[in-house]
Amino acid sequence: MKQLVGRERELRDLLGYVERRIDKIVLLQGPELSGKTALLRELRAVMASKYGRTIPVYHLDLTCFRMTDVLEWIQGNDNFLMEESKDLTILEVIEEILASEHQLQPVFIIDQAERIPEIFPQPRALIEVLAKIARERRGVVILASLDDSLREDWQDQVLPFHLGYFSEKAARAFLRKRRAAEDRRSWWQRWWSRRDLVSDEEWREIYPICGGCPRLLGFCVSPYPNLSAIVGSVVGGVHTGLEGRDGEWEGDKYRRVAELLVENGGSVEWSVVLDKVFGKDVSEGSSQLRAMASRNMINVEYLPESKTKVVMAGSPAYLYAMRLVLEGRDEPDV
Ligand SMILES: Nc1ncnc2c1ncn2[C@@H]1O[C@H](COP(=O)(O)OP(=O)(O)OP(=O)(O)O)[C@@H](O)[C@H]1O
Ligand SMILES: [Mg+2]
Repeated sequence: MKQLVGRERELRDLLGYVERRIDKIVLLQGPELSGKTALLRELRAVMASKYGRTIPVYHLDLTCFRMTDVLEWIQGNDNFLMEESKDLTILEVIEEILASEHQLQPVFIIDQAERIPEIFPQPRALIEVLAKIARERRGVVILASLDDSLREDWQDQVLPFHLGYFSEKAARAFLRKRRAAEDRRSWWQRWWSRRDLVSDEEWREIYPICGGCPRLLGFCVSPYPNLSAIVGSVVGGVHTGLEGRDGEWEGDKYRRVAELLVENGGSVEWSVVLDKVFGKDVSEGSSQLRAMASRNMINVEYLPESKTKVVMAGSPAYLYAMRLVLEGRDEPDV
């Protein structure tokens, strides 16, 4: 696996929660491809080297979870299936683990937790049990999710932990580090040339498109990144938004949201969007915006450390693609 770059503070904080046996569900929330899964994998690796098997970690990634499957969580493996537990529900599996590990306090990681309502017939019961496990300090529970609905529904039980895209400075440092790691030249050749691994000129092209998204920046590690390809891949997504995806939302409402985002540099307060796009029809607006968010057409999140909810472009590349599409140009000029 690629080495985690940056995120030292986030890793330290998460490890701190685990070691202190935090009594709330930790809700790791961040936009698509911000690195939630990568961070949790690193946490697992760090814990394995620090504690070995004394603190077992059970990791369930709901991306590939099928309701018909019965799962076992096993230390170090995502979604390991166990034949013998065919008839167990997820809650029974948890209880079984807790019963067998009675001296230890296992860590339960549930990744892609925004899918819980879609997958589990009784989502509230599941969260209730997880919250109780945390509260009674029988185990540590970490949920990773794209959206914030869990935070809204479970305010007192949940400790929000935001993982946003990198700031501009951190993003450039991230790209430098990734390039340095790939640099096969000998130390003296590098010393001799001593050029900036990410020049100002190049950064002016890369940043408006990739922003601080580690995944998109990852495409720019090679010396001549294909930025047009990055934008091209999301232009199609914007068109899907304008078509209104199976009637889940109205295309012209998406266009209005996109216009607002473009005008405001990529993020607008939730209440302002409701007001300007849906004319105060809060329930209709909320449901259409949630549908857009569930398809990654937009991102909805709270500003870190605050109660302000904002609507954001799905990623920096999305914002760029929105601008192109609204201007009637699908071809990026890079
Ligand atoms: N700090 C980092 N250092 C190196 N690579 C990273 C880092 N963060 C993310 N990546 C890489 O970026 C990509 C996206 O990260 P990841 O899958 O962890 O994001 P995510 O937030 O879990 O996305 P999703 O919302 O789709 O679940 C991966 O290829 C990952 O390896
Ligand atoms: Mg993930």
